[in-house]
Amino acid sequence: MERRSTVTLRQFEENDQRRVIYVFKNSMMDLFKPNYQRHLSYRRFINVFLLALCLYLSLYVYNSVLLCVVIVALIPTAYNISTHIIFKQCIRKRLASDLKDIKTTYIDIDSGSGNFWVAVYDGQIVGTVALFLREFEGRGMQPELTTMYVHRKYRRLGIGTKLMNKAVQYANDHQFSCVFLTTGEDNHEARKLYIKTGFVKIREYVVNYHVLMSTVMTTYVLNLKPVVDDAVTATPDTSSIKQK
Ligand SMILES: CC(C)(COP(=O)(O)OP(=O)(O)OC[C@H]1O[C@@H](n2cnc3c(N)ncnc32)[C@H](O)[C@@H]1OP(=O)(O)O)[C@@H](O)C(=O)NCCC(=O)NCCS
Repeated sequence: MERRSTVTLRQFEENDQRRVIYVFKNSMMDLFKPNYQRHLSYRRFINVFLLALCLYLSLYVYNSVLLCVVIVALIPTAYNISTHIIFKQCIRKRLASDLKDIKTTYIDIDSGSGNFWVAVYDGQIVGTVALFLREFEGRGMQPELTTMYVHRKYRRLGIGTKLMNKAVQYANDHQFSCVFLTTGEDNHEARKLYIKTGFVKIREYVVNYHVLMSTVMTTYVLNLKPVVDDAVTATPDTSSIKQK
C-alpha cells in the first residue's frame, strides 16, 4: 500500500491543539538520545578527567571499590538527568508560549502573521509545520520555519518534505524574500531535509546550559528571490495572509 498518497495537509484548526501537542512532545523526546550521547562524548577530555579524578579519590584516598562503581555509574546518570531536565524545560517553555494557543499565535491576524499546518494521515494528525514572522538580518519581517515535526511512526514517507513545500510555497506566494530557521547541530535528519530543500547555513552559535553542557545551534536561510536594495528593509504587507 502506498502510504504517501493518503497524507493531506491543511491549516491548523482549534480542535487540533491536543494532538499537535502530542506530536510535538513525542518528536522532541526523540531528540533526547542523540543529545545525551553527544554530551557524553563531546566533552570527552573533561569527562575522562572527571572520571580519573573520581577513580583516584575512591580507590586511593577512600580505598573503596563500591564508591568507585557508584561514581562510574553516576557520571552518565548525571548527564542523562541533566539532558532530561533541559529537554523538559524546552518543552515547557514552548507549551507556555507559542504552542499554548496555536490559533492565536500563528493564525489570528491581530497577534501574529504566520501560519500553521498539520499533516493528516488516516484522519489523524501525524506532522506539523509553522511559519512565524520575525525581523531577520535587516531584511524586514520574514517567516521563520518552526515546529517541523513528524511522528516517528510516519517518518521517511515524504511527509516532512510535503510540509516543507507547503511552508515555502506560502512564503513564496506572499512575496517574502526568504525563509529562515534554526536547528541543533546533532539533528542530522532535519538538517538533511533543510539542505535538500535548498537552505544554506549562515550562522552558528553556542547555547550553554551549564559548565558541562552546551549545544551548537545553526541558522539556515532559504532565499526566495534576489534581495533588491530598496526592498531589503521593506516589511511585506501581511494583511492578506490568512486562511490558505
Ligand atoms: C526531520 C523530520 C521532520 C523529517 O520528516 P520526514 O517525514 O521523515 O521527512 P521525509 O520523509 O520527507 O524526508 C526528507 C529528507 O530528510 C532527510 N531525512 C529524513 N529522515 C532521515 C533519516 N532518518 N536519515 C537520513 N536522512 C533523513 C532525507 O534527506 C530525506 O530525503 P530522502 O528521503 O530523499 O533521502 C522528522 O525526522 C522529525 O520529525 N524529526 C524529529 C523532530 C525534528 O527534529 N524536527 C526538526 C526540528 S528543527
